[in-house]
Amino acid sequence: MPSTKSSDVLAVPQPEESLGVPVTGEELCVITAPRSQQAEQFRVLRNSIQALNPDGASHTLVLTSALRGEGKTVATMNLAAAMTELPGIQVLVVDADLHQPSIEKSLGLPLRKGLADLLAGGVSLDNAVRATSVPGVSILGAGTLPKNPSQLLGSDRMRTVLDKLRQNYSYVLIDTPAAAGVSDASLLGAMADGILMVVRLGSTPRQFVQQTINVLESLGGNVLGTCLTGAEEPDTTGDY
Ligand SMILES: Nc1ncnc2c1ncn2[C@@H]1O[C@H](COP(=O)(O)OP(=O)(O)O)[C@@H](O)[C@H]1O
Ligand SMILES: [Mg+2]
Repeated sequence: MPSTKSSDVLAVPQPEESLGVPVTGEELCVITAPRSQQAEQFRVLRNSIQALNPDGASHTLVLTSALRGEGKTVATMNLAAAMTELPGIQVLVVDADLHQPSIEKSLGLPLRKGLADLLAGGVSLDNAVRATSVPGVSILGAGTLPKNPSQLLGSDRMRTVLDKLRQNYSYVLIDTPAAAGVSDASLLGAMADGILMVVRLGSTPRQFVQQTINVLESLGGNVLGTCLTGAEEPDTTGDY
């Protein structure tokens, strides 16, 4: 089990240490249940994103949601896996949730130095990125959790890191904390090429989603669309 104690000193990841660790989480349906309807929905989302990008240019995309627990991390990993089903696509998933990081946990991987260490100058970019057992998907974990995440994430260095990463991957998918109440998602949203709003159906009031989108846009973000989660039943609710 990955440790989450902030007092632990994290090791630098070995570039290939995670290649042999199979993904088993059933919520990561594109990997573990590729023929499921849920997996197909992530391919539809992937196709929509590809359609917005006919030149195949590299892009940085932030995934966020109004509230915590709406499925951002799960959606980020499923979208990454769906993207790399297409030939020639390489995706880097960045865990920029420096409050409750969970990309490594969702993949069953140990915690290692990552984004926060990179931004603080404690590890190089090449050393911080790890390949995974999902072909074409690499990760940059959150790393050593800082006292002030938004100071690190809002820094010029973050912008430089994103520009560099954009050159090396077809898509850089950035998992963030919820947008309401924490400024990190809007800071990153303004630096990235686009924002996808993850919305758990039947749980977040529509007005609240719209308010969050308005805030992200007013701070310079480009909201491309929504990714609905928990949509096993048709959405027949009124205000939700
Ligand atoms: N599509 C899904 N299918 C099944 N479980 C899901 C799905 N999306 C999210 N979950 C579950 O909901 C919880 C919150 O998801 P998570 O992605 O961690 O949310 P967030 O990153 O927005 O806080 C987790 O326990 C996760 O396993
Ligand atoms: Mg998360």
